[in-house]
This record gives sequence, structure tokens and C-alpha cells, in this order.
Amino acid sequence: MLNNWSIWEKTTASIRALNAAKHPPTGGWPDFLLQRHPSPLDAENYISGRACDHYRRFEQDFDIARSLGHNAHRFSVEWSRIEPEEGHFDEEEIEHYREVISALRERGLEPFMTLWHFTLPLWLDRRGGWMYRKTPYFFARFAARAAEAFGGNVIFFITLNEPEVYAQNAYLRGIWPPAKKNPISAIWATRHFIEGHKLAYARIKERRPQAQVGIAKNNTFFEGRFAGIFKYLRNDYFLNHIKDTQDFTGINYYSHNRIRGFRMNQNDNKEVSDVGWEVYPKGLYYVLKDAAKYGKPIYILENGIADARDAYRARFIRDHLTEVANAMAEGVDVRGYFHWSLMDNMELEKGFWPRFGLVEIDYKTQRRIIRQSAWEYKDIIDKSGK
Ligand code: BGC
Repeated sequence: MLNNWSIWEKTTASIRALNAAKHPPTGGWPDFLLQRHPSPLDAENYISGRACDHYRRFEQDFDIARSLGHNAHRFSVEWSRIEPEEGHFDEEEIEHYREVISALRERGLEPFMTLWHFTLPLWLDRRGGWMYRKTPYFFARFAARAAEAFGGNVIFFITLNEPEVYAQNAYLRGIWPPAKKNPISAIWATRHFIEGHKLAYARIKERRPQAQVGIAKNNTFFEGRFAGIFKYLRNDYFLNHIKDTQDFTGINYYSHNRIRGFRMNQNDNKEVSDVGWEVYPKGLYYVLKDAAKYGKPIYILENGIADARDAYRARFIRDHLTEVANAMAEGVDVRGYFHWSLMDNMELEKGFWPRFGLVEIDYKTQRRIIRQSAWEYKDIIDKSGK
């Protein structure tokens, strides 16, 4: 697969491995991460390659999801595979994803299809990616094609995954491709994301009126001085702009951000994940209560923890689901929860070392190893009777 990330990661892998050695996290890299393959210090860690090879092993993976009691599955279609050249839609790739969808349906897993999860075809990247003024139009055309091709068997479409996080990491922090820091670019990209979503929404609904369309929005729980400003910019701005063009509110929740004085991220950090994010279940309750203002059904599309030793994951799931139940008891219309993620996979700029999976992947052999927390999650699912 050739897209803007696969090119970028090859040119930056060695330098990122060196940086990981030069700037380890506070306290140094723990042994349990260095002993795994690939470790944060290997260049190989930063190159996706065949990753967990889900592209070929999806049937086996969906068998696992079913054995773990899941009844829905969130996945992406890769734009660069489906439209490798401008306006040329690859029928073989479309067929591949049709097979993926059938495999889900055969196992009683409701497909939730994401159309854009951070990668772009090269022909569009060359023109400036989300900075290019016609990208919203191209994205909507791709969405229309996806609705035609898959909409007979897919109801739930997620147009964009975390557009605001992408704008921030690509154009403000410069850690994701195109890694060009410029605040004006971040603003333009955000405007194009909003326009792209709205156009895609209209085109999907035109073709498939029964489709349920939304985005996956990363909402953080902010506390402290100026929390309101950050909440508005980070959580509300995008959703306020698209509130009339979504059928559900899709929320990704990971952690919280306490602002003390003028400093961000001053969390107590009593318990943190392998990537240093504070475990803060209560924040999910607040984020859900707030998202209820849009008056749409809510789906939690991501919530998970990087925990290679599987030390915290079971409790993480239990405590977050308790907060979901608390919000629901107060009338919040939550319809679904997707734990992120089914399997260990390539974790963006960090590469392979963060382990978010309910299922561990041995990257040398591609063996799937179900973690204990996945069975504990299954118990909760079984008891809930859904
Ligand atoms: C992204 C996922 C990622 C997760 C954990 C979200 O921002 O949508 O791709 O794995 O965060 O970092």
C-alpha cells in the first residue's frame, strides 16, 4: 500500500528511533517494552509494512472478535487502495472490502466503516492533502463511491476520524505527515475537514438514505482555569459546525487534561498507560453528559489503553463502562461502545511498541494471543445480555 504515511514513515524511521534513544520518557524506557519486538529503539518499529496483516487475516480476526462476544466492529477502508489514481476506482479492492463486510455480517458483527483514518492517496497528497481547496470535493466523491459500493450491506459510516487531532499533529506539532508547522495551515485544514464531512454526508445520504453517518471525535475532559476555552476549541468547535449533518455523535475518549496555572496536562497521574496517558474514567462520564447536548444517539467509537503487560486493561474497561452506565442512568442515549482496539496495531508516529489490543500480536510470527482482559470484557458483555 502506498500512501502519504507509508512514504513519510520510511524517510523518518531512523531518525525517530534515534530520538527515542536520545529522549527516553521520564524514568527511561521500561525493560518490558525494550524486550519486545519491535522495540522503540528499532527503526523497524516505525515502518508499518504488513503490520498485523489484518488485510489478509481478517476472517481469523473476526472469528476471534466473535468468540470474545463482540457484536459490532469498527474498521477502515483505505482510500489509496480504492482510488489509487484520481478518479480511477479499483474494482478488486472494492471487492476485497465487500468480502470483509460479508465476513463481519456472517459472524453477526455490525460493520462500522470509517472512510478516512489519517492517510491520503499520493495523487492527493501531492496537491497539498487537506490544504488543497478541492480535497473536500474529492473526499465526498470517494464517500459517494463507498456508499454505492458498500451501502447495501453497511449502515454506519464514519466519514472522518479525529480531524482536529490530525490538524493539530500535522500542522501545529509537526509530528504527522506532512509535518509542516503552520497555524494557518491548521485552520485551513480544519475548514476543509468541515466542508469535506458536510459534502460527504450529503452524498452518502443521497445514495443511501437509510445510512447513519457521523464522525469519530476525540473529546478530552478539561478541568481547571481556562478549561472552557480549551473545551470549546478542542471538543465543541468541530461538532458545533457539523451538528446538523450527523445522525449520531461518535466519541473517542482516552484521558483528561487538568490545567493548573498556565500549564496544561497537570494531571495527578496516579495510574498511567505505557504511553503516559492518565487513566481517568470519570472523564468519560463528563464527556458523554456534554455530548448529549447534540440530541443524537451516541456511540463511543474508541476507548482504550496502551498496556503491554495487560496489567490495567480489565479494570480500565470495567471502570469506563461503569461511567457509561452512570451517564445512561441520567438519560444519555449511548447506543454502543467499541473498545480500542481489537488487536495490537501500528500506533501512528509511535510505531508498534504501544500495545492497545485486546489481542496481542507477535509481530515475528503474526500469532494472535488473546489477553486475559479480553475474557474479562467478554464476561461483562455476556452479563449485559446484549
Ligand atoms: C486514533 C487511533 C489511535 C488512538 C490511540 C486515536 O487518536 O484514532 O488511531 O490508535 O488514538 O492513540
